[in-house]
Amino acid sequence: MAGNRTFTMIKPDGVANGHIGAILEKISGAGFRIVSLKMTQLTTADAEAFYAVHAERPFYGELVSYMSSGPIVAAILEKENAVEDFRTLIGNTDPKKADPGTIRALYATDISANAVHGSDSDENAMIEGNFHFAGREMF
Ligand code: RTP
Ligand code: MG
Repeated sequence: MAGNRTFTMIKPDGVANGHIGAILEKISGAGFRIVSLKMTQLTTADAEAFYAVHAERPFYGELVSYMSSGPIVAAILEKENAVEDFRTLIGNTDPKKADPGTIRALYATDISANAVHGSDSDENAMIEGNFHFAGREMF
């Protein structure tokens, strides 16, 4: 199964700006099957743990407070070559640099409020999916 699942979140700006439906439509239209899906809100501790890999980066505090600032949608997605293909679908971290038609080009506000998260490796996809859905299957 390795290589065919990834994990995503629609970030607080994507939810607040009313883009849940459009983003899920893009994801499905690109051939991803939604395996697990929920709307939730991260606590500060959740966001610190989820982004622990970035703890030493200068933007960590801002990232944690932003990601816990409002509701998000978490999902596990399935498709051949899921991690890489999903990163292509969402585009560059900075929406100003994202290719036209990508989810971040279409729906992100700026580099902090960039609409969606996408796992960066098969290993992290499993860790992140389990972070949100452990005990409910789904990874
Ligand atoms: P993500 O993990 O959310 O899918 O984003 P990414 O891989 O494209 O970018 P990453 O380097 O993992 O950074 C995680 C999130 O931190 C925020 N960030 N802010 N102010 C900055 O320079 C800066 N750099 C990164 C972004 O919201 C990014 O998505
Ligand atoms: Mg990342």
